[in-house]
Amino acid sequence: MQVIILPSAHDVSLYAADRVADVINSKTNPVLGLATGSTPIALYKELVARCQSEQVSFCQTISFNLDEYIGIADSHAQSYRTFMNQHLFDHIDIVRSNTHVPLAESQDIDVLKDSAQDYENSIQQAGGIDLQILGIGVNGHIGFNEPTSSFASRTRIKTLSESTVVANQRFFKENEYQPHLALTMGIGTILESRAVLLMATGKAKAEAVKAMIEGPLSAMCPASALQLHKTATLVLDEEAASVLV
Ligand code: F6R
Repeated sequence: MQVIILPSAHDVSLYAADRVADVINSKTNPVLGLATGSTPIALYKELVARCQSEQVSFCQTISFNLDEYIGIADSHAQSYRTFMNQHLFDHIDIVRSNTHVPLAESQDIDVLKDSAQDYENSIQQAGGIDLQILGIGVNGHIGFNEPTSSFASRTRIKTLSESTVVANQRFFKENEYQPHLALTMGIGTILESRAVLLMATGKAKAEAVKAMIEGPLSAMCPASALQLHKTATLVLDEEAASVLV
C-alpha cells in the first residue's frame, strides 16, 4: 500500500486525474472502475476539462461503477447511473454502451442475484479492471461493502448500515424514499483490480483512514482489505491524514 499525502482536496483530484489519464493513454481498451459520492466529483470535473480540451479521450474506455441503490430506476435523480451521467458520461466521449452501473431497479431477489452474477461476468469479459477508483465511508466502507463484509465477497446485495443511510440522507428530499439496500461489487472483486486508487479528503474521514492504514485487517473496517493489495495507492489530503501516527 502506498500512501500519498497532499496539501488539499484539489491536489488529490489532480493526482487522481493524472493516474486515470495514464491508464487511458497507455492501453487500447482501458477498463476503469468508478465510484460515486462527493469525493470523486472534483476528479470527474478535471477529467471532463481534459477531455474537452482534447488532452484525453475516453472513446476506447470501458467503465464499471462500484454500486447502485436497489429499488430505484436508472433515471431516478439519486441513482448512481444518473450521478455518473451528470458528472462524467454526458460530458466526455465515452461510448455509452461501454459504461456499466449495476442494474438494481428490481426488488426481486432472483433478478438481483442474476444481475450481480452478470456484472461479475461482464468485468471478466472486459479483461478485468485496470484502475479502480474508490472513496471511503466514515465507517470504513468501500463500495457499499459495509462493516462485517467478507474480504472474499463478490458483487451482491448488501444492506446499508445506519451510518451510511444517515450520511447519504443529504441527497434525498424530505419524505422521499431512500433505499436501504444496494448492489455492490464485493471486496474480493475490488481486490482483483490491477490497481486501486482510494481518494480520501476532509476531517470526517480521518478516523476511517487511520483504521484502514494503521488498524488490523478487519471486516469491521472493509477498507483495511486494501493492505492486502500489492498496488493500492491511497491519496489523502492533510485533513484526512490528520490522525495518522
Ligand atoms: C460510492 C461508494 C462509496 C463512497 C463513500 C464515500 O460509489 O462506493 O463507498 O465512496 O461512501 O462517499 P463520499 O465521497 O460522498 O464521502
